[in-house]
Amino acid sequence: MVQPVNVAIIYYSATGTVHALARAAADGAEKAGAQVRLRKVAETAPPEAINARPEWTRHLRDTADVAEASHDDLAWADVVLFGTPTRFGNPASQLRAFIDTTGALWYQGKLADKVYSAFTASNTAHGGQESTLLALGNTFYHWGGIIVPPGYTDPIQFQSGNPYGTSHVVGDGPASEVALQAARHQARRAVDTAAALKAGRAT
Ligand SMILES: Cc1cc2nc3c(=O)[nH]c(=O)nc-3n(C[C@H](O)[C@H](O)[C@H](O)COP(=O)(O)O)c2cc1C
Repeated sequence: MVQPVNVAIIYYSATGTVHALARAAADGAEKAGAQVRLRKVAETAPPEAINARPEWTRHLRDTADVAEASHDDLAWADVVLFGTPTRFGNPASQLRAFIDTTGALWYQGKLADKVYSAFTASNTAHGGQESTLLALGNTFYHWGGIIVPPGYTDPIQFQSGNPYGTSHVVGDGPASEVALQAARHQARRAVDTAAALKAGRAT
């Protein structure tokens, strides 16, 4: 019998938007029958930067009980979904810092052949969502990953409008129901793809 699909959702969020998308992705993956680990990466910003923004301090406190991502989560996963805010058109350095610790896993081939996909948020509609998602894609290529973007594979994608990965414009307010639905769809699609791969590899 084919084992259930393991999904690691590894994210960084300063003020909660990407965290909300990550939780929706976890929901979508669970509903698709997967085992899910929701993991944040370590905060690396200095306390003075964090303390200057009450919403950042609050989110850090509210998510204190979310486990931090480890190499074991990556090795365990059949699907890895990465979430990050846009930072000057790129992934947040906190997420990159975690990714940049994975050299040994990569060298051992333990990051290859998994399904990868990513989601993001930015302040403005043209503030770099696609460039952030595509930048993460560079890493997935290096890892020998199987990139599964949402494309326009569900009616929700025609509302959310980003085929590269779920994204939300924070200037419009907190993560919208459309963005949350898109995150659920993206996760479900990644799980379905990994399940098909897993079944095929088991024969
Ligand atoms: C240093 C920094 C750089 C940012 N760069 C961009 C950017 O290039 N484009 C943009 O639209 N928003 C930018 N933002 C806004 C963040 O993307 C936004 O606050 C984030 O998506 C919120 O997600 P979170 O609530 O999960 O932290 C930046 C924010 C910071 C602090």
